[in-house]
Amino acid sequence: MYLLFVLLTLLSSFDSVDPSCPGRCSCDSGHSVQCYRLMELPTGIPVTTKRLYISHSKIQHLQLSNFIQMLALEDFILLASGTESVENGTFKTLSTLKTLELWKNKLRCVPSALPATLEVLKLNDNSIRVLQESDFEGLKKLKTLELKNNLISSLSPSTLSALVSLQNLVLDGNNIQSMRAPLPLPHLKHMSVENNKLHVILSSFFTSLESLQFLSFSGNFLTKIPTNLPKSLLSLKMERNQLKVVRFRDMKHLENLSQLFLSENSLSSIDGAQLLTNLTTLELSQNQLQMLPFKLPTRLQKLDISNNLIQRVTVQDFQDLRDLKHLFLDNNLVSLFEAGALQRCSQFSNLALEQNLLLSIPLRLPKTLARLDLKGNAIQDIAERELRDLKQLQVLNLRNNKISALDLKALEGLPRLRHLYLDGNPWNCTCSLVRAREVLKAKGTDVRGGQCAAPADRQGESWMSSKKIMRQCEHILHLAEKNKETRKKPNPEDHPNVRINIDDDYYDYEID
Ligand SMILES: *[C@@H]1O[C@H](CO)[C@@H](O)[C@H](O)[C@H]1NC(C)=O
Ligand SMILES: *[C@@H]1O[C@H](CO)[C@@H](O)[C@H](O)[C@H]1NC(C)=O
Ligand SMILES: *[C@@H]1O[C@H](CO)[C@@H](O)[C@H](O)[C@H]1NC(C)=O
Ligand SMILES: *[C@@H]1O[C@H](CO)[C@@H](O)[C@H](O)[C@H]1NC(C)=O
Repeated sequence: MYLLFVLLTLLSSFDSVDPSCPGRCSCDSGHSVQCYRLMELPTGIPVTTKRLYISHSKIQHLQLSNFIQMLALEDFILLASGTESVENGTFKTLSTLKTLELWKNKLRCVPSALPATLEVLKLNDNSIRVLQESDFEGLKKLKTLELKNNLISSLSPSTLSALVSLQNLVLDGNNIQSMRAPLPLPHLKHMSVENNKLHVILSSFFTSLESLQFLSFSGNFLTKIPTNLPKSLLSLKMERNQLKVVRFRDMKHLENLSQLFLSENSLSSIDGAQLLTNLTTLELSQNQLQMLPFKLPTRLQKLDISNNLIQRVTVQDFQDLRDLKHLFLDNNLVSLFEAGALQRCSQFSNLALEQNLLLSIPLRLPKTLARLDLKGNAIQDIAERELRDLKQLQVLNLRNNKISALDLKALEGLPRLRHLYLDGNPWNCTCSLVRAREVLKAKGTDVRGGQCAAPADRQGESWMSSKKIMRQCEHILHLAEKNKETRKKPNPEDHPNVRINIDDDYYDYEID
């Protein structure tokens, strides 16, 4: 009761700070007003207000008279307030307005007669079906136009032709089936038309998009990468389409292209990617590739080719890729990984090979490797020669394999190992396995051990924590204990605040 009283006193003292601030609003000294749960636009907000932010309200209709006194308004943001209509010319007189955001409302068309000062217009999550020729008339300063998640089904170039300064255009989540060409937006840098219903893009579409750098057509029905893409392109996203082939010859003029995203298509082979000389990221996950691309771009740093049908990795595949750092090959059918296949990649750090058919840990992996994921293969043992040079290795995942014994020497040679996942293997819980555990603990490695499959009397016991096994192996534990005391190696419990994500499915690119 007393608390409630204090709270009420506090609240009312807030309101009385500025008597000109309307109810359910807070006004700050930077001429910014924020309001929640209103039933209509507040009357009597200070005339000096530059920014008005309203959300989670019920304001069906906006009209000219609402804004008559807002002479200094620069940003008007009305979010999730059920707004259905805007009176003709409501914003026209706001001669200082730069940002207009009417997100998550129920608008059926773009508000008419917008002021020429506007730089940012966001109308995402409404019910706009048609863009009228006159909607964007005179908006010569508009830089950003977002119309995500509406019901727009076509886009005509003349609708946008007035937007001579436009840099960002977002049309994701509409029903656009075709786009007439050419789009006359010479300053456009970012364009995103994800999750629409595009079947074709005419090659003339791009003739006037000479500044375009980031383009996304992910989530459409495209069967081809558009031709005549602008030379200025840095990033192209074509994920979740119906691509069967990629003709890199048609893309070789994209000399600055650094990221290409082609995941979730129907590609069965990739040939000629080396023509994209500056490509650093290539994503090809969830296709039907049976082989690694023949000749990859030599500057590649990240290749994601997970969830395909790849069977072999050979020395030739990566011999020219000196900059490669991240390789995702998980969820394939890899049974052969040639020794030294990544030896030339002198900055290599992450190798994801989980869910494949490997019988052993690949040999001669790069010395710079920090994370190795081999979960869900058919590996039977860990040999010293496989891990000997991996002095930078921090995370090793061998979960769900067929390993029954640990070679202590193999693991002792990994000075930086912090996380070791060993559960899901058929462990033969001998006392020497328990000793290996003690050594790893003493090194400060966090180990997920799992359960014993043998011998019979220890089946199902957890070899990391079983008191029974510890009792039975007491003589060996005593030795390890003495060792630990003399060496005083750190124990993970001594550093509870070491910040590393221990979720084994999480890839931290920049592990130090
Ligand atoms: C709004 O203005 C346009 C012309 O600017 C006119 O065609 C239309 O009928 C007007 N609508 C209303 C509801 O006044
Ligand atoms: C490629 O990038 C360089 C460096 O940023 C730039 O000078 C050049 O104009 C770009 N090329 C094209 C075709 O945009
Ligand atoms: C792209 O590659 C060309 C050579 O093929 C080079 O001249 C240019 O500087 C590169 N651009 C960037 C941004 O690296
Ligand atoms: C477990 O290891 C012991 C000692 O090396 C060996 O005698 C035994 O056969 C192993 N059991 C299984 C099931 O491999």
